[in-house]
Amino acid sequence: MSDLIRFGVSIDQDLLENYDRLIAERGYATRSEALRDLIRDTLIQQKIEIQPDIEVLGSLTLVYDHHARNLSQEMGSLQHDFHNIILSVMHLHVSHDDCMEILALRGNASEIVRLANGLLSLKGIKNGKLFLTMASSSITSSN
Ligand code: NI
Repeated sequence: MSDLIRFGVSIDQDLLENYDRLIAERGYATRSEALRDLIRDTLIQQKIEIQPDIEVLGSLTLVYDHHARNLSQEMGSLQHDFHNIILSVMHLHVSHDDCMEILALRGNASEIVRLANGLLSLKGIKNGKLFLTMASSSITSSN
């Protein structure tokens, strides 16, 4: 870990009050910890935008109707096409009709997005979301 640096920030009072309220709701002990998380998140998003082939970690959550025709086969076939970036799949039978799948992913960001878009757009998928992040050493590296 690199040296800790202190710096001053000029900010509108209204904006700071809203920020303080938000971080209190989220349970942050200090403004600094919340700001560090915001900066990391911005750096991750910016790295992925400018380097679509950067290695990232991802989780994709899908909720779907397991009665939907051909859906399970289509999901399986797409996952086999991208087997090299899928680390693990957790399947939960959440109700009589619904299943939830959580995919742990590691690989090229654009490939992960391609897999996620392919799965999310299948008929019968009711809701889902991709979350992308990266190892902490990659967040601050210059390439
Ligand atoms: Ni199920």
